Amino acid sequence: MNIAILGGYGIMGQQLARVWLTGTDGSVLLLGRRADALYQCMENFRSDFKKERVKGEPVDARDPSAVADACRKNHADWLIFALDSAKLLEPCIEAALLARTHCLDLTITPGKDFIWQSRRSAFQAAGLIAITEAGLQPGLPGVLLRAAIQAQPTAQTIVLSTFLKIKIPPDLPMPASMVDLMDSFRQTPALYRHGQRRVDWWALLFPYRWQRLTPPFGLCTLSTVALPEIEIIARRHPQIAQIRYQVGGFNLLANWLAIPLMVPFLWIGGRYIQRLLAKILYYGVLRPFTKPPFGVAMQVIAIEGGKKRWSLDLWHKEEYGFTAEILQKLLVCVDRNPPLPGVHLMADVLEPLDFVRDWQVINQCS
Ligand SMILES: NC(=O)c1ccc[n+]([C@@H]2O[C@H](COP(=O)([O-])OP(=O)(O)OC[C@H]3O[C@@H](n4cnc5c(N)ncnc54)[C@H](OP(=O)(O)O)[C@@H]3O)[C@@H](O)[C@H]2O)c1
Repeated sequence: MNIAILGGYGIMGQQLARVWLTGTDGSVLLLGRRADALYQCMENFRSDFKKERVKGEPVDARDPSAVADACRKNHADWLIFALDSAKLLEPCIEAALLARTHCLDLTITPGKDFIWQSRRSAFQAAGLIAITEAGLQPGLPGVLLRAAIQAQPTAQTIVLSTFLKIKIPPDLPMPASMVDLMDSFRQTPALYRHGQRRVDWWALLFPYRWQRLTPPFGLCTLSTVALPEIEIIARRHPQIAQIRYQVGGFNLLANWLAIPLMVPFLWIGGRYIQRLLAKILYYGVLRPFTKPPFGVAMQVIAIEGGKKRWSLDLWHKEEYGFTAEILQKLLVCVDRNPPLPGVHLMADVLEPLDFVRDWQVINQCS
């Protein structure tokens, strides 16, 4: 199976390419705007793997025909969206349909479930599979939520937690993508307006929660956040009184201020508020993210009658490595056992308890 990665020389793209080249016999097509960075990255991979398994084409994701041509020419079966911009989802979807490739979307694009739902019939008609909400965040929490529901169907409360620190260059410039992300949040109040999210105002007032996670993180502070995938899965299980998703790894400013207030403030605030929040997020989120100990801890707890009945802790020393391994596993699973054409959540494509069992064998977790 051959994959094409839009954003192929980015941090995520490179990790996925390496895991793919190491763990399968398929090829990788790297796609990105800057020819110099692209060819350098190809050279690096070609020194470690067979030349013919590593290909690359300089293309801009804003040009779906160019992306589709590159995919067709190089016989890509899957197109992976690993771009840092939250504004390019629609051209990426267009490119996959033109190229007639299946696709996997890793981007953090607010309101993306609305965009994806509007393209469901196009993928069905073309006989193609699209998987969204894939990867660690937000994909894996959905898998763990389904695993908890399968393991403890009578649970009344399910609490999902993620804590992460990422090894990225500390001198990373303020990325335009942070402002992009703010912008797309601002343009997507629909997520809230359509009743998709039952806003947990109480959590907004008291956003700061403590949770004990695996070492080296231990006792952590986490903020409740809205994750569309969790909402979608939660709606299928009205018998569960509360399903909460919380995330941490940032500093207190981001935990207390930027994350809980981001959506209401972006909604009522203007462009200046947007820039200010982008800065707070950058200094509050990205900077502390780059400090050790690195890694990612995920936890799911199913509570019934006020007692913990089922729980699972996952840990990996490297967030991007974790995501890349999950993606590789996901693609291999889908290749063996393809779902019907159309748009799917990652959490629905993987068999949750099998995934958890395999993961326990492959990795360190309790
Ligand atoms: N789901 C998960 O668990 C998970 C985990 C990690 C990351 N992610 C997501 O993965 C995405 C990538 O993250 P990252 O940290 O790898 O970002 P990154 O290192 O900044 O990589 C993004 C890549 O996209 C390329 N790009 C940007 N605009 C482009 C365009 N118009 N056409 C072609 N290429 C373009 C960039 O190259 P140029 O700017 O040079 O073109 C860069 O190579 C983000 O959306 C992130 O949220 C998801």
